[in-house]
Amino acid sequence: MWYIGAILHQAQTAMYNLGILTSSDMGAEGRREDTSGQAIREMLLGMDFTLARYEIVPDEPSVIASRLSEWADSGEVDLLVTTGGTGLGPRDVTPEATLSVIDRQVPGISEAMRQAGLRHTPMAMLSRGVSGLRGHCLIVNLPGSPRAVEECLEAIVDVLPHALETLTSARVETHPPH
Ligand code: MTE
Repeated sequence: MWYIGAILHQAQTAMYNLGILTSSDMGAEGRREDTSGQAIREMLLGMDFTLARYEIVPDEPSVIASRLSEWADSGEVDLLVTTGGTGLGPRDVTPEATLSVIDRQVPGISEAMRQAGLRHTPMAMLSRGVSGLRGHCLIVNLPGSPRAVEECLEAIVDVLPHALETLTSARVETHPPH
């Protein structure tokens, strides 16, 4: 019965740890303000999230992939949101970096964001962002503008608690208290 109590406790007091990874060459050089990272922070920190990790990295696949895997494997990040690098430019490599580290894709999350985005702008079809799981961490790619971040997060924010509850409950079930 311990696990029912643990799950109920988790559901009642759920606060999830958020990681924000901004991919931007200019941002990493300090030549551009990270307004997209700020938009994610403003939307999610008003909800059930606390900020556990934040960094701006250049559009280098190996750097993005190592940061994603380090944060996911730390066990201290439940939701890892990236912003930027999802478009068609030669340096837009966030989806490839993400695909190289996730165990399983969650395509419906990215599909829902693109579908919602198309109601605002046809440009939404140009984001190649992916979503998926690495262990118990959910990784979601967002485009790199504050407006796109808001439109995308609006489309998925109501579903995130259930998704994260499932992931973090699985972690509780596999680690019974002593
Ligand atoms: N999605 C939404 N909802 N709203 C937007 O304004 N901009 C698009 C697209 N997705 C946009 C959007 C544009 S203009 C581009 S180029 C792609 O995301 C990729 O952006 P990125 O390379 O900054 O990730």
